[in-house]
Amino acid sequence: MADLETLKTKYAGEIAAADNLGGLDAVRVAALGKKGEVSLQMRTLGQMSADEKKVMGPALNSLKNELAALVEARKTVLEGAALNAALASETLDMSLPVRADTGTLHPVMQVMEEMAVIFADQGFAVAEGPDIEDDFHNFTALNFPPGHPARDMHDTFFLKPDADGNKMVLRTHTSPVQIRTMMSQKPPIRIIIPGRTYRCDSDQTHTPMFHQVEGLVIDKTTHMGHLKGCLMDFMSAFFETDVETRFRPHHFPFTEPSAEMDVRYERVGDEIRIGQGDKWMEILGCGMVHPNVLKNCGLDPDEYQGFAFGMGVDRLAMLKYGMPDLRDMFAGDGRWLEHYGFSPLLQANLATGLS
Ligand code: PHE
Repeated sequence: MADLETLKTKYAGEIAAADNLGGLDAVRVAALGKKGEVSLQMRTLGQMSADEKKVMGPALNSLKNELAALVEARKTVLEGAALNAALASETLDMSLPVRADTGTLHPVMQVMEEMAVIFADQGFAVAEGPDIEDDFHNFTALNFPPGHPARDMHDTFFLKPDADGNKMVLRTHTSPVQIRTMMSQKPPIRIIIPGRTYRCDSDQTHTPMFHQVEGLVIDKTTHMGHLKGCLMDFMSAFFETDVETRFRPHHFPFTEPSAEMDVRYERVGDEIRIGQGDKWMEILGCGMVHPNVLKNCGLDPDEYQGFAFGMGVDRLAMLKYGMPDLRDMFAGDGRWLEHYGFSPLLQANLATGLS
């Protein structure tokens, strides 16, 4: 039987001398671990006489508790010291200027922010929805009946069918968020919906993933004149010059009447100048929300009405900032981003300019 006093003095000394957490734990294991000296002593209790046990049992127990308490106390001291050392060495100089030479904002993000700023000024809030949609939100509720040829126009990416044969899709436009909003919010509604959209298409002016900004206004009085005014004002604000626009009749299943909006432009050498000129460029689709769409969302078309529009963000970015090929936008080339990117520190706003 070892002398408990000797054991206590030995380990108390080692605990006090431990100068790091690893060393302290080694001492703890040597004394109190499964095969530690104190634990081994506890096991000898079984072979003792009842009288011996009465004395040694409580004595060993209190030795164990005392050493455990000493380990804990030392641990707290060492942890505090480790934290203080880290705080002293890992300093961050908050007064250093930001390094403005690393990282730029992608032109698509910049343009989406510019759009949000302009539409916010007209009273629009921002709404979002999922990139992976079901058939109901992407097509059916938007008045594309099953089998309708307009579904094929969209070159849809389908996901693998589920057990019931239902195929989810990568949303082909931001219009499904119109449905989500009308089904979850009471009019008046005035939102824009920026987001990614997908179609199986790729050439100089098409990429399989692209960006749209959708707009939706629903109340009891909004009419086509409001739609035109809203979009005409937007174009001049966005291009930061007077932009002449025209509306051509068109067809979308989810709007009636429907139109496409063109802006005037001219080509000077390699450059495209938006605003004036002798040519027209198609910029967006729009129209008055179709009564069937309102009904599909539980809104009474005799009470509510409004307009919607959808435009391609990437193309507007190309036009405004003069990039020649849409595919470069998503190639992830650092040199391209350095050339066309925007400072993340300069926020677009109407007071000091958009860009
Ligand atoms: N969703 C249409 C498209 O992607 C655009 C659009 C939106 C047209 C809203 C009218 C109203 O082509």
